[in-house]
Amino acid sequence: MLRAYDIIKKKRDGEVLSKEEIIFFVSGFVEGTIPDYQMSAFCMAIYFQGMNEEEILNLSLAMRDSGEVIDLSEIKGVKVDKHSTGGVGDTTTLICAPLAAACGVPVAKMTGRGLGHTGGTVDKLESIPGFSTELSKKEFIAQVNKIGISIMAQSQELVPADKKLYALRDVTATIDSLPLIASSIMSKKLASGADAIVLDVKFGNGSFTKELHQAEKLAEIMVKIGSQSGKKIAAFLTSMEQPLGNYIGNALEVKEAIKILRGEEKESDLRKVAVELAACMVFLGRKAETIEEAKKVALHALDSGKGLEKLAELIKAQKGNPKVIEDLSLLPAANLVETVHASATGYIQSIPAQTIGYISLLLGAGRSKKEDSIDLSVGVILKKRVGEKVEKGEPLAELYAHDHSKLNLCRKQLEEAFCIAAEPLPSIPLIQSAIGV
Ligand code: URA
Ligand code: CA
Repeated sequence: MLRAYDIIKKKRDGEVLSKEEIIFFVSGFVEGTIPDYQMSAFCMAIYFQGMNEEEILNLSLAMRDSGEVIDLSEIKGVKVDKHSTGGVGDTTTLICAPLAAACGVPVAKMTGRGLGHTGGTVDKLESIPGFSTELSKKEFIAQVNKIGISIMAQSQELVPADKKLYALRDVTATIDSLPLIASSIMSKKLASGADAIVLDVKFGNGSFTKELHQAEKLAEIMVKIGSQSGKKIAAFLTSMEQPLGNYIGNALEVKEAIKILRGEEKESDLRKVAVELAACMVFLGRKAETIEEAKKVALHALDSGKGLEKLAELIKAQKGNPKVIEDLSLLPAANLVETVHASATGYIQSIPAQTIGYISLLLGAGRSKKEDSIDLSVGVILKKRVGEKVEKGEPLAELYAHDHSKLNLCRKQLEEAFCIAAEPLPSIPLIQSAIGV
């Protein structure tokens, strides 16, 4: 008979677990026969001993099967999902999803809320007046068949093992374990029913995998899990050293996404990554023969305004006010704005994404606990990026807040977040590499 104790001990001693042992542990935890303290010890054993590829695949599948696996077969065409491992100012979904949909790729996306210093697409979308992400599965599927795109909040029934496990990992210092991250993400992707998956795996300061080699390993493992489960899958490795976009905060990020879809901010990093992801979605969705052609198709959707139109359609279909795409003042706005200035002349060496994420959390844009309510209007706008030259006294960033005490708390932190030195540092490529395209 299998016993939780023996399985923990086996992993603690660095041995390889069988599929049956992994299923036993995950299902026992979800059913409540394996208590939190044994799961905590199990996670810590995995944290130190790791898992081989087969174990990670089996863990992902056991987690996927802890709940409902969504059936999207009523939607015609190759359904493509997109997922980012999480970051700051990372609003690519709001750009690449409408772009891909405008190119004819059916986008049926389930997504989550932000937790910790990283933002979530559901919160951002809810800053659009009226917008609802609470759809039934029937409405979700019908909307994709009608307008080609729908974005809904991940249902409670999707991978309950991950919900319970993530909460436990969060308080036991076992979030940043490669097998646990890979199985957490892939179990949800495999359960959400898409035929193809585009992953944006972050490396650097603001991501869960700070070192490039960790991020590469995570990407490789997730791509293998996807392929072995019959999905078409590709992964990009992109930098999260500094926030991806210049706008950080829920309504602020929606603003930046709209500006990019309007064709503004042509040189922005956010636009570059979003276009690559959209092109990959178009390619995997078989709306182009080659990735080069897919990129042209995606860029055309952007330049022609079709992507922006698709976003407006999405907003309208989900009861939001589509006029926001013309009038950004319809989005919630903070009443206090303060500019932070450079304390020295020189080159910006770093703007740590994690620090900026925490500042935006302090301002009220994110949650420290799941139950916290958030302020959709607050956040930060960066006026400078890493590598740029600044003069003493020049604006570096703007703080958007609702109360003076929070503003005072964040002003100094934001100023100190910008590291300025006499010489520029060699720049880090924004998109490091891609697997599977
Ligand atoms: N994102 C997830 O969904 N799970 C993790 O474990 C880390 C990032
Ligand atoms: Ca995530």
